[in-house]
Amino acid sequence: MPFRKDFLWGGATAANQCEGGYNLDGRGLANVDVVPHGPDRMKVSAGKLKMLEHQEGYYYPACEAIDMYHHYKEDIALFGEMGFKTYRLSIAWTRIFPKGDEAEPNEAGLKFYEDLFKECHKYGIEPLVTITHFDCPIHLIKEYGGWKNRRLIEFYKNLVTVLFTRYKGLVKYWLTFNEINMILHMPFMGAGLVFEEGENEEQAKYLAAHHELVASAWATKIAHEIDPENKIGCMLAAGLTYPYSCSPEDVFEAQRKNRDNYFFIDVQSRGEYPAYALKEFERKGIDVGMSEEDRQILKAHTVDFISFSYYSSRCISTDPEILAKEMSGNAFKGVKNPYLKASEWGWQIDALGLRTTMNELYDRYQKPLFIVENGLGAKDAVDENGYVEDDYRIDYLRAHIQAMKDAVELDGVELWGYTSWGPIDLVSASTGEMSKRYGFIYVDKDDAGSGSLKRSKKKSFDWYKKVIATNGEDL
Ligand code: BG6
Repeated sequence: MPFRKDFLWGGATAANQCEGGYNLDGRGLANVDVVPHGPDRMKVSAGKLKMLEHQEGYYYPACEAIDMYHHYKEDIALFGEMGFKTYRLSIAWTRIFPKGDEAEPNEAGLKFYEDLFKECHKYGIEPLVTITHFDCPIHLIKEYGGWKNRRLIEFYKNLVTVLFTRYKGLVKYWLTFNEINMILHMPFMGAGLVFEEGENEEQAKYLAAHHELVASAWATKIAHEIDPENKIGCMLAAGLTYPYSCSPEDVFEAQRKNRDNYFFIDVQSRGEYPAYALKEFERKGIDVGMSEEDRQILKAHTVDFISFSYYSSRCISTDPEILAKEMSGNAFKGVKNPYLKASEWGWQIDALGLRTTMNELYDRYQKPLFIVENGLGAKDAVDENGYVEDDYRIDYLRAHIQAMKDAVELDGVELWGYTSWGPIDLVSASTGEMSKRYGFIYVDKDDAGSGSLKRSKKKSFDWYKKVIATNGEDL
């Protein structure tokens, strides 16, 4: 049997994409609450358009999302029915610290997650908690400029100390920052950055990244001190960049692109800045303000495991003609790979690329891996009973799980678990749509925010249940 007996099968969500209840029980406003649906979404996410409050004429999908705040018992029961061993979710920072810089936490927020974790344990589901998933209190952005400011490390330390203390015994798997490399592509979502006219954006992004990397190392230290049972992971938006051709220029460019992503995990897993990054910073005059204490903390407190999301591979060329045919994929721009089909949103489908990515990560870090996001965003046609025949989703997942099985069985990669993205339909991070659905569970809500929020099972629900019941034997 390729997968260990205690292999953690499950699904993954993020607070801002499913919870809703954005202003309930003392919760403060967060960056994700003010990212609208529609054409301005990408500008806001990229920090190019300043919108730190709700404005007339915009719809903000995170505010209600799928209202898991009120439906979590029903949703976790459905996860339990599928046999989930784990459920990855994220904490909304502003439920715990509404402004982010308070000394004392908000009890109602702490209680909400405590109840939720207990609900998981009722079904034998182990929570896997992302501390920040594209989530930063608005107050910290207005007052301090987000993660550009070193003081955020202090506020984050305060947050994690509260979380690790309160949830000791309830949670043992933690991720410090979701897709930490996304800072480079969606800096408002990733680090609460909004750029001023003429600002050196690259400097700001790497400064913010440095603060997050140091905060992540502090969190690892604090977690282990509070409970040695805690396991802390980093989280990478993974997916290799392939060279479009075998020209040495393309190969070198692909390596450079891959390093843009590896940089973060190199620091979190190896404990120091890689030589290639130091040289590039030197050339570009980027200064992250590394102190001796930062250096020591980074070195001494590396992560226990490497988690990552995988949706697709990417492809890059140095040929201007080929580059001109640039396709829109996710936040990572690249050229179309002629060997691959793509989703309705242009994300290229590459199951073998998952096996390649796993091997790359395992070779590079030699730490256990955890796949914490994978899935197909697709438009579903729902019948009057709320049923969806989503064979396309099953096909995608089957092929990817087979590839992950091969990486374990044939290549010897150590893998702790697999959580598919959005086991229940939720708001899309890149587009704000509901119609980009990933779930085994359908939620009746549309892109404009209308719908009963009723949950129903898709065909893939029973399929995934069988996969889990057979520990991945029967796909
Ligand atoms: C990852 C994020 O980038 O991909 C999730 O961690 C996101 O938050 C997921 O939802 C899928 O992307 P999208 O844009 O289809 O929601």
